[in-house]
Formats: sequence, structure tokens, C-alpha cells
Amino acid sequence: MRRVQPDELSLKPFTVLDREWALLVAGRERPNPMTVSWGGFGTLWNRPVATVYVRPTRFTFSLLETWPEFTLNVLGARHRKALDLCGTRSGRDTDKWRETGLTQLAGETVGVPRVAEAELALECRVLATLDLDPARFLDPAIEKLYPRADYHRAFLGEVLATWAADRFLAPSA
Ligand SMILES: Cc1cc2nc3c(=O)[nH]c(=O)nc-3n(C[C@H](O)[C@H](O)[C@H](O)COP(=O)(O)O)c2cc1C
Repeated sequence: MRRVQPDELSLKPFTVLDREWALLVAGRERPNPMTVSWGGFGTLWNRPVATVYVRPTRFTFSLLETWPEFTLNVLGARHRKALDLCGTRSGRDTDKWRETGLTQLAGETVGVPRVAEAELALECRVLATLDLDPARFLDPAIEKLYPRADYHRAFLGEVLATWAADRFLAPSA
């Protein structure tokens, strides 16, 4: 991986999170990796932004509220087992680094680590949060995804540093 500019990235926005999943790392004192597959990339307020959606029931939610920074890390397929674990166990009672064998690398622009094994890593600081409001769901099917009414909070993160392996870079980059 090497550090690049966000506009050098070449990735498929509708598959990278949905199919590959990613590890959202939050927390300074006790960083915790959580698997995510909902989110997106784009431009907001003239800045490169990565958005993640976190339910208030997650340990990660309290970490993000305490320290508004995160890293978003895409790992290769060989780490699927680790992603499964980080998406089914909670950092409240599990040291997911120890359980998965994944390694932390200090962030360069944020106080939250990224994942050394990642093939794409974004360091982000939260610019704003937005709470999904069920009163504004226009498709009734969406409400069915919330039997516990734990509606996601969107964390809009300005991308401060980008690290990518070749497969996430355009050939000309
Ligand atoms: C493939 C996959 C994708 C997930 N995506 C999200 C997501 O985008 N947002 C979310 O709040 N939870 C998501 N989860 C659930 C959390 O990863 C899971 O509840 C995790 O155990 C929470 O960890 P934490 O309590 O340490 O924060 C996903 C789980 C899996 C397996």
C-alpha cells in the first residue's frame, strides 16, 4: 500500500462495501474494529467524504461519539473470517485484534489506527452526523430492517489520508 490522493482511487462504489465489506475502526484509547457493508464515498462541502452508518446499539457508536474519527479499511478475501468475527462480536467484551490476529498501524492524520492488513485504508474525521428519521422513509420496506427501532446514525467523515494497494488505483495513477 502507498499513500495516494483520494482522486487517484479506482473502486466500484456499489460493490466494494457491499461485497468485500470493510472494517470501521473507532476509538482512541481502546480502538475497536467493526465490520460494515453500508456506506458510501463522494463529495460534500467540497471535500472528499466517506460516510458510514452505525446503529446506536453498537459499541462502535459510543466510540465514535466520544472521539469523532475513524478509519475505514478494506481487506482482501483471505481475511473473510476476521471480518465475520468483527461483524458478530462486540468490542464491549472482546478484544477483536487479539481474536483475529489483525494488526494496528498508527494513523498519520487521526488518533485512530488503521489496519495493517488492509488493501485500502481511509483516515477520516467526522464532520457531521445525521440521524436516519423513520418518518422520512418513503419506501415501507425500509422500516422492516429496524425491528428494534435502532435507526442508523450516519457519520460523515472527511477523508484526510488515503492508502491503497495497486488494485484500488487507476492504471495511470
Ligand atoms: C457483513 C456485515 C456488515 C455489517 N454492516 C454494518 C453496518 O454498516 N452498520 C452497523 O451498524 N452494523 C453493521 N454490521 C453489524 C456489526 O458489525 C456488529 O453488530 C458488530 O458486532 C458490532 O461491533 P461492536 O459492538 O464492537 O461495535 C454488519 C455486520 C456484518 C457481518
